[in-house]
Amino acid sequence: MEIIKSPDALKAALKATQGSVGFVPTMGALHIGHKTLIQAAREANDIVVVSIFVNPTQFLAGEDLESYPRRKEADEKICSLAGVDYLFYPDVSDMYGEDEVSLIAPDVRGYILEGTSRPGHFSGVLTVVNKLLNIVRPDRAYFGRKDAQQLMLIQTMVKNLFMDVEIVPCHTVRDSDGLALSSRNAYLSADERGEALKISRALTKASHLVGKGVLESDRLYAEMLAVLEPLEVEHVAIVNRAFTPLDTVEVGNTIILVEAVVGTTRLLDNVWI
Ligand code: PAJ
Repeated sequence: MEIIKSPDALKAALKATQGSVGFVPTMGALHIGHKTLIQAAREANDIVVVSIFVNPTQFLAGEDLESYPRRKEADEKICSLAGVDYLFYPDVSDMYGEDEVSLIAPDVRGYILEGTSRPGHFSGVLTVVNKLLNIVRPDRAYFGRKDAQQLMLIQTMVKNLFMDVEIVPCHTVRDSDGLALSSRNAYLSADERGEALKISRALTKASHLVGKGVLESDRLYAEMLAVLEPLEVEHVAIVNRAFTPLDTVEVGNTIILVEAVVGTTRLLDNVWI
């Protein structure tokens, strides 16, 4: 595995290779969720590139940019063992200059749900993912369904900007107790972790109810909120795959999402129905 810091050096290295390129963008503090994306890339491509970049433009003022977990050595080991060919590890100054062109998330779908609690966050995500895709020019790029709104907006960007890359959605990896893996889980105390389990329990309850034929969103919201009590719930949403709210679940075309703050940690999870 080669570790590369400069965008130009990575471009040059990739130009000298042959075969299909699979790309997994991350912010590091890698866990098994990230590893699953890397494995999917490894299985389907000749060359696998992973980026680790804690992107400042997607953090709002007062968020955890400074304290976001950084684990360079462990991450390098995970990537190397997972068969990554190129680990792209740029500094902020490698990725951003002054007075830049940037992308703006769509007016509606970029500013609902997580986009309401973190206005501007998705513009930062799209800006950096666009840069990363331009540097790597992969055939396929892998993203987790856990960040469903991010995934949908990246798919929208690729379509709107006629970008030549296949976006591959990957399933959510959970701990044995159901908690969706996230680099931010490291912030949770033991008590908070127990509270955080209410999120996956609420989603499991909703999918069981749907399985029993309960399709009305209002009923599902009420049942989920009862499980989530007394968490600080930012939103519970039942939307179709294009993120339009649904009054009635459409099996095969629905995502149920929860965003909640546990202690000071914002956690996201969802189920695809
Ligand atoms: P990060 O949170 O590091 O996540 C990198 C990728 O891993 C994302 O596509 C995310 O959806 C996926 N992922 C995270 N937890 C997962 C889990 N439990 N199961 C499956 N996949 C999971 O998302 C970002 O970084 C950034 O916003 C980024 C896209 C890199 C842009 O900066």
